[in-house]
Amino acid sequence: MHSFGYRANALLTFAVTILALMCAMASLSDNLNSPSPTSQVQVLNINWFQKKLDGDDEVSMTLNVSANLESLFTWNTKQVFVFLAAEYETPKNSLNQVSLWDGIIPAKEHAKFWIHTTNKYRFIDQGSNLRGREFNLTLHWHIMPKTGKMFADKIVMSGYRLPDAYR
Ligand SMILES: *[C@@H]1O[C@H](CO)[C@@H](O)[C@H](O)[C@H]1NC(C)=O
Ligand SMILES: *[C@@H]1O[C@H](CO)[C@@H](O)[C@H](O)[C@H]1NC(C)=O
Repeated sequence: MHSFGYRANALLTFAVTILALMCAMASLSDNLNSPSPTSQVQVLNINWFQKKLDGDDEVSMTLNVSANLESLFTWNTKQVFVFLAAEYETPKNSLNQVSLWDGIIPAKEHAKFWIHTTNKYRFIDQGSNLRGREFNLTLHWHIMPKTGKMFADKIVMSGYRLPDAYR
């Protein structure tokens, strides 16, 4: 006869196995869901653009960031971290990335939004490379799931250009 302890243990093992299986299936079904988020960002104004005393360029801009990230939310989504980065090429580096704004989207109800904002983080180039510089604005997101792996992706918006002269 099996002891009570043995049966309790077997039951627990069974429950844990089922739970693990459900989690695996859940994250699998989550991976099958292919999201289709959209985003648009307009540079509404260049507030100022200057070369600082230390020689680095800095620009301040007003942005209209709009996005619909509702499709990133499934029952398995805990929250989504988003950040908007300016990405550009200079003679020294093929990729310079400056984060301009970020936010945490706690639920699907907040995943469709637009905000009118100046850059939350400073847009500084280590050098004097920003005049007339073409850049991309890239909306990156990290999906924090309730179970399974974190998932990250982005939307690249190109065709932006900084003014030719400081102002
Ligand atoms: C920002 O963009 C959204 C969507 O593209 C638009 O509805 C809204 O009017 C814009 N706001 C400003 C201040 O330009
Ligand atoms: C900007 O976007 C374009 C088009 O997606 C891409 O070809 C280019 O490499 C990007 N530039 C940078 C610096 O990431």
